[in-house]
Amino acid sequence: MVKGNIGIVGCGAISHIYITNLINMFDNTNVYAICDLDDLKTKAVSEKYGINNIMTFDEMLKDEKIDLILNLTTPNAHYSICKATLLAGKHAYVEKPLSLTYEQANELVSIATSKNLLLGSAPDTFLGAAITKCQQLISDGYIGEPIATTAYMMCHGHESWHPSPDFYYQPGGGPMFDMGPYYLTALINLLGPVNQVMGMTKKTFKKRTITSKEKNGEIIDVNVMTHVNGLMSFENGAIGNIIMSFDVWGHHLPCIEIHGTKGSLQVPDPNGFDGEILLKTEQDDFKKIDNPLPYKENSRGIGVSELINCIEKGTIPKCDGHKAAHVVELMESFHKSAIEKKAIIINSTF
Ligand SMILES: NC(=O)c1ccc[n+]([C@@H]2O[C@H](COP(=O)([O-])OP(=O)(O)OC[C@H]3O[C@@H](n4cnc5c(N)ncnc54)[C@H](O)[C@@H]3O)[C@@H](O)[C@H]2O)c1
Repeated sequence: MVKGNIGIVGCGAISHIYITNLINMFDNTNVYAICDLDDLKTKAVSEKYGINNIMTFDEMLKDEKIDLILNLTTPNAHYSICKATLLAGKHAYVEKPLSLTYEQANELVSIATSKNLLLGSAPDTFLGAAITKCQQLISDGYIGEPIATTAYMMCHGHESWHPSPDFYYQPGGGPMFDMGPYYLTALINLLGPVNQVMGMTKKTFKKRTITSKEKNGEIIDVNVMTHVNGLMSFENGAIGNIIMSFDVWGHHLPCIEIHGTKGSLQVPDPNGFDGEILLKTEQDDFKKIDNPLPYKENSRGIGVSELINCIEKGTIPKCDGHKAAHVVELMESFHKSAIEKKAIIINSTF
């Protein structure tokens, strides 16, 4: 097996689980170099994990040993870093969302295709034990033909725990662009592409106060919608409801349910790799499904490892840019529908 040399851009909060897993969990990933605008972050990561190559982004682009650039920056930098990566002839994998707009996402997919490079994007949680098992149950016919789905993520935002939460309230953040990718990526992998959406949106709190330790008391201006309610129709005929909110203190609704002609499936939190799967059939009430599949622990980086496998084999990765671009188009279209007060036809598919 060939090990892919990875250059990581962005040494913030999420970089730690990636680096830990890329070093310890997967055989084909080598963390070759790191980069961040903040020297204190690269220094801390370098010392903690023994990664000695600290580079600028331009140095990474020029380094022939680097096969893939893993982009763990904040959403506003995703597009420009991925574009420069691909134009430099390197494969790219980026945290979610792939970009701030569908136009940017489409451009990245086109550049990757024209240069014969792979473009991958988080989330990779759907490759974990839970969603993989749900996929098997649906394709084995346990719920019959899917007819409807619901997806709910409602909380009060991330300012109580994230050390630097401002970006969650700027374009590319908000509950739909931040958490929507987990839910929508799970849904499109379980049910296939979406062809039409409608949305309604709301911004309840115009300012947020940071209560996490590092920037405690700082005020954030909220520049995104913080409660997004969407409807979607899938190409397979199923219809779905989704609510992503940073305005809600608590709720009791299940993360995802999928209802079919023969039964219903409760899918666990798609922001995790494991969780309780419940199946209801015509004969029985909801019953817990045993799941012996691997990758139950936090396996962030599995998408990067899979993409490196695909580079070697010449195959299409499961976290492919086409799917991520489809998700960006859906998220953008829920907001667009709310502004234009009409249904939006989705152009992308995969
Ligand atoms: N924190 C989480 O729990 C979490 C979970 C899943 C996904 N994510 C996603 O991961 C991404 C990063 O989130 P985070 O929480 O690590 O943010 P963070 O703010 O903690 O870290 C981002 C880092 O990127 C660096 N950066 C920004 N622009 C850069 C540039 N142009 N060049 C080099 N470095 C640059 C910043 O200096 C910062 O250190 C986001 O897209 C987020 O949605 C975060």
